[in-house]
Parts: sequence; structure tokens; C-alpha cells
Amino acid sequence: MKLSAFGEKFAGQTGASSLMDDLGNALNDNPDMLFMGGGNPSRIPAMEALFAERLAAMAQDPHQTFGALGVYKSPQGDSRFLDALAEMLSNTCGWPISRHNLAISNGSQSAFFVLFNLFAGRMPDGSQRHIQLPMAPEYLGYADSGLSGDFFHSNRPTIELLDGALFKYHVDFEALSLSEHTAALCVSRPTNPTGNVISDAELAKLDALARAANVPLIIDNAYGTPFPNILFTEATPLWNPNTILLLSLSKLGLPGARTGIVVAREEVIKAFSNANAVLNLASGNIGPALVQPWVESGELISLCERYVRPHYQQKVNEALAVCRSALAGTPARIHKPEGALFLWLWFPELPISSDELYRRLKARGVLVVSGHHFFPGLSAQWQHQHECIRVNYGQDADTVARGFAIIGDEVKRAYSHG
Ligand SMILES: Cc1ncc(COP(=O)(O)O)c(C=O)c1O
Repeated sequence: MKLSAFGEKFAGQTGASSLMDDLGNALNDNPDMLFMGGGNPSRIPAMEALFAERLAAMAQDPHQTFGALGVYKSPQGDSRFLDALAEMLSNTCGWPISRHNLAISNGSQSAFFVLFNLFAGRMPDGSQRHIQLPMAPEYLGYADSGLSGDFFHSNRPTIELLDGALFKYHVDFEALSLSEHTAALCVSRPTNPTGNVISDAELAKLDALARAANVPLIIDNAYGTPFPNILFTEATPLWNPNTILLLSLSKLGLPGARTGIVVAREEVIKAFSNANAVLNLASGNIGPALVQPWVESGELISLCERYVRPHYQQKVNEALAVCRSALAGTPARIHKPEGALFLWLWFPELPISSDELYRRLKARGVLVVSGHHFFPGLSAQWQHQHECIRVNYGQDADTVARGFAIIGDEVKRAYSHG
């Protein structure tokens, strides 16, 4: 098969596809594997019961069923849903937005692809622009989404060592400079993989830098506030006409509905919707239809507050306790978990690479993700990249406890025997 340059890039193995294959194959080979890789949200019975109730109500009502299944909506999304969402977000966050500031996508992942390529890559005058990630580690899903090379640039963070075997990354503002080749800044908050939440002050600084350079600040809010609100620290949501905020219904329990939401100024929404029409004609209706009444009533936010956040808060507390005790006596540190559904573990001066640790853990029936995947755009090699792993703690308590016990055992063995 003769592939185009596009074909070679996207049909070949990317970091994301090989990782997903590897995780999938490992599960096929050993269904009893303790699955602490991947980004699936937890099953939350109270939320699942509400989804089931809502699906049943939709199925009983031919008008709603037709609206969800029988029509293409506009490439921007269903205007009734967009109106309700604009009202809910303005009421909760005080943002001066209307439906003209919102668009629906088939998952936020696909919205990132469109937005990144709208701004970065080859410019009409032949010059090249890139997306600047203020720091890495950052979300692996961005890594291969550029249609041209040299698409992401990122910087090392500074590292603050904290009590209780914790640490925290901060944006190194001295190293961060924007140029005429910067297309946009982008940051996930909370961050996948680290669970870091960049502070309000750091976000304000990024906002100011982006405005001064006249480029958008893209904020990935897949885990953030006001929904799904998987946050264990104070964080004020930010939006203004220079920001592009991406929200998602995935992490509150609906990853299969593939619903992302773009919040941006009108010209960005128009550009996004035009591109979405080419790629998708329209986005799926099921996710918006399912949550429509909770958006109209504003309950979507209170449901996350009542069921989603406490669920993860309890899980993270349990995970932190078992992780600490499993790693006691080693130099390991845990990134302060401030949000999202992962613990990010750092093994300073581990004699083996994180990839080798990943393989050894897989052989013992525990699936995690090696940290080296999460440094998109970092050009210079950094030993730290090979000293971390990401662990999803969203499984049941028994799986999490057994998984961390094996992680602790392997890490101790690696520190003493290599
Ligand atoms: C930080 C981050 N952004 C975006 C996404 C994409 O989510 P979705 O396409 O399901 O909205 C994910 C999924 O894991 C994520 O972790």
C-alpha cells in the first residue's frame, strides 16, 4: 500500500497507538491483569444509575429518541443544548458567554486535533508555528496530533520537594519564552499524568504571556472544574476571550458518549465548526441529549460535587496510603495528587529505566504506564523522563492495594539489584 505523508504519519505506529495496543494485548493475554494503566474513569454506581434512568426516559419518548438518534444537528452542536450550557457556565463561573462561544465535538481529543492544527504547523507565508506546552510531563494524547513536524515545544518544570515523600512540579517561567513561532500555549489542569494543578497565579501568568504574544491560551479541563471536578485543591476556573477551554463529559462517567465542549470566542468557534463539518458533518447527539436536563437545571455540577469528587477523593486517599507504605524505605516520591485519576511516581536514580520497570510489572500482572511517554516537545534528554510511572488508582480498593504491593516489591528489587 502506497501511503501519503499523512498516511505514513497517522497509519503508522504513534506513541499513543502502540501504548494502547500494548495495554490491550496485555489484557487479552492475561484478563486477570491488575489494570492500572489507561485513562478510564472509575465506575460510580450512583452516576451509572442516573445514566440508566435517563436513557430509559429518552427511550420512552419518541421525540427525545429522534432528537438523539435520528437527525444531524449543526456542526457546532444542538442550539438548545448550547443555550442551556452557556447559561449554566455563565451562572456558575460568571463568564460572559452565549451559545456563540460554544461548540460540541466528538470527544475533546478530536477537538484538540482540530484546534492545534488550526493554529500551528505551516503558515500561509511558509513559516512554521508550534504549540508551546509550558511544562512537561503533559498529556500523551497531544503528542502525535500535529500534521507537520516540530509541532510541540515544552520545557522542564522546576521541582519542589515536599514532606511526606511528595513533590510538585511548577512552571519554570524563566525558561518559558514565546516567539513569533509560538502558535498557542496549552496546559492540562489538572494535568494528566501527574495530578498537578497549576495554581491560579501560574495560570494568570500564562494568560498574560499569551495575551502579550497575541496567541490563545488553551486550557484542557478534562478533569477540572466546574465538571467533572476531580479536584482535591482550590482552583478557580479561567475563561476570557483569549482562552480556549476544553471540557469533556468523559471523566464524569461517559467516555463512550464521546462528547467534548469547546468554549472560545466567536471567531474560534466558527473556525472550529467549519472544520468539524468537514471532518464529522456534525458531532454525536447522545451525550448532549443525555445530560440536557441536568444542564438546564444546573444539576450536572452538583452531581459531580455529590458523587464524582468524593468518590475520587476517597480513592486517592486510599491509594496514597497504600502507595506510601509499599514504597517506604525507598527514595521514591509521589507527585502531590491535586486532581485527575492518577498517581505519578518518581524513582530518583532508579538503576533501571521506567520502561523496563513497566515490563517487569507487566510480567507480574500489573499494568501501569511508563512515564517516558509523557514528555511531548521536550528536545533535550532528561534522566527524570525515565524515572517515573503513571498509575491509575480508579479501580476497586483490592486491585489498587495488590497493585501497589507488587509495584513496591519490584521497585525495591530494582534499587537493590538493578
Ligand atoms: C488531559 C486529557 N485531555 C483530553 C482527554 C481526551 O478526553 P475525551 O476525548 O474523552 O474528551 C483526556 C483523556 O484521557 C485527558 O486525560
